[in-house]
Amino acid sequence: MSAANFQIPDDIVAVLTDPAAYGTQRIFDAYRWLRVNQPLGKASPRGFNPFWVVTRHADIQTVSQQSQLFRSSDRPVALLSSKAEARIEAATGGHGLLRTLVQMDAPDHPKFRALTQKWFTPGNLRSIEGKIRDLARSYADRLAMSRGRCDFVSEIALGFPLRVVMTILGIDPVHEPRMLRLTQEFFGTKDPDNARKGQNDGAAALSDVVSEFGEFFSSVVADRRANPSDDLASVIANAQIDGAPISDLDALSYFVTIATAGHDTTSSSSAGGMWALCEHPEQFERLKANPALIPGFVDEAIRWTTPVKHFMRTAAEDTELDGRSIGRGDWLMLCYASANRDEAVFQDPDAFRIDRSPNRHLAFGYGAHLCLGQYLAKLEMRILFEELLQRISSVALDGAGAMTVSWFVNGPKRLPIRFQLH
Ligand code: HEM
Repeated sequence: MSAANFQIPDDIVAVLTDPAAYGTQRIFDAYRWLRVNQPLGKASPRGFNPFWVVTRHADIQTVSQQSQLFRSSDRPVALLSSKAEARIEAATGGHGLLRTLVQMDAPDHPKFRALTQKWFTPGNLRSIEGKIRDLARSYADRLAMSRGRCDFVSEIALGFPLRVVMTILGIDPVHEPRMLRLTQEFFGTKDPDNARKGQNDGAAALSDVVSEFGEFFSSVVADRRANPSDDLASVIANAQIDGAPISDLDALSYFVTIATAGHDTTSSSSAGGMWALCEHPEQFERLKANPALIPGFVDEAIRWTTPVKHFMRTAAEDTELDGRSIGRGDWLMLCYASANRDEAVFQDPDAFRIDRSPNRHLAFGYGAHLCLGQYLAKLEMRILFEELLQRISSVALDGAGAMTVSWFVNGPKRLPIRFQLH
């Protein structure tokens, strides 16, 4: 059957390509419509190259586990307008400004992933748990000092995961404001508050952000090559593959991935979890009464927020999926946030339940590219909420929260809360 039979109606496509929709119920309504009526449909919006939209949990797993057939290095891994895609191709001769893990395929991908995989295992992370707890305590102290009300995003959720990532990379806290700004600019090209100032063109802004990251991390690479220590930055800077040092671009790309992927997503999930607790006081009470529920709460907060809304894949050859003919070079959008509300997998998917079990969410992706930092993210969030819940006896919204504007990585950007301390 031709793709024409599977075209997604214009009003749904308009939601999928509206970055502002991702902070509202509109995107979840569109996902639900797609799961029921057109779970693997084709979107052909004006200004974009056409793409398939994969909304069911099972289909996203099927695509993700065939990483040779549905590749990450052939075209961009996040949705871009056709103009931006063309400009990046013209500027780089490839499909991205960087060569990060998420943009690689075998045989390179497993080799590059192996460089740091050991670092991110639960066993290794135990050695930094004490440091993470000290940082979480200092943020809980900060909350306690804010006299019963604060913006949870700017006071806690943004700073804490950034501190953790910078600590494991061994980067001086003095550079954190710059790292925070660059990460927000990296993911926030469409957000009026976070987009890079003085640059209206999204593709050019992204290129400027990457250059500035490059400038910063080049000096870190040079330093760790001259003075290696036991931090993650030294592992990356001195990494070798097949007996040869990795290139400067590969080292820089690695740093940018860890610095950006490792921070914004965890911030969003932490703030999303706090937002849900404000709206579900009965779940807050249960969590306080039984801290053993915190790991389950953390997973539910990550499912609920699903900060990474999608990643793209590109078909390496003509194939068939659910009766659709997918052509070589076709682009597929894997909608993780839709999978995480799929009624076929989650009972009552729109309910926030701290004791949801099992909780087979796909917020960390699936298959070869499954998030490298998932244990770190969950560890940070567990420890943060263990510390916060010891201090606060009640919490509620203190005004309207706001979400970032992005179809790629998004989450709360403002969360005013009121709370009482013990
Ligand atoms: C990959 C989400 C935290 C580092 C991914 C992918 C997703 C994701 C969906 C899959 C990419 C793909 O399929 O192409 C999240 C979420 C997080 C989180 C929701 C927090 C709640 C972290 C942290 C780090 C990290 C804390 C590191 C400090 C990475 C890296 C990859 C990745 C390096 C690339 C893996 C690969 O391509 O092999 N993440 N992430 N992430 N994540 Fe995370």
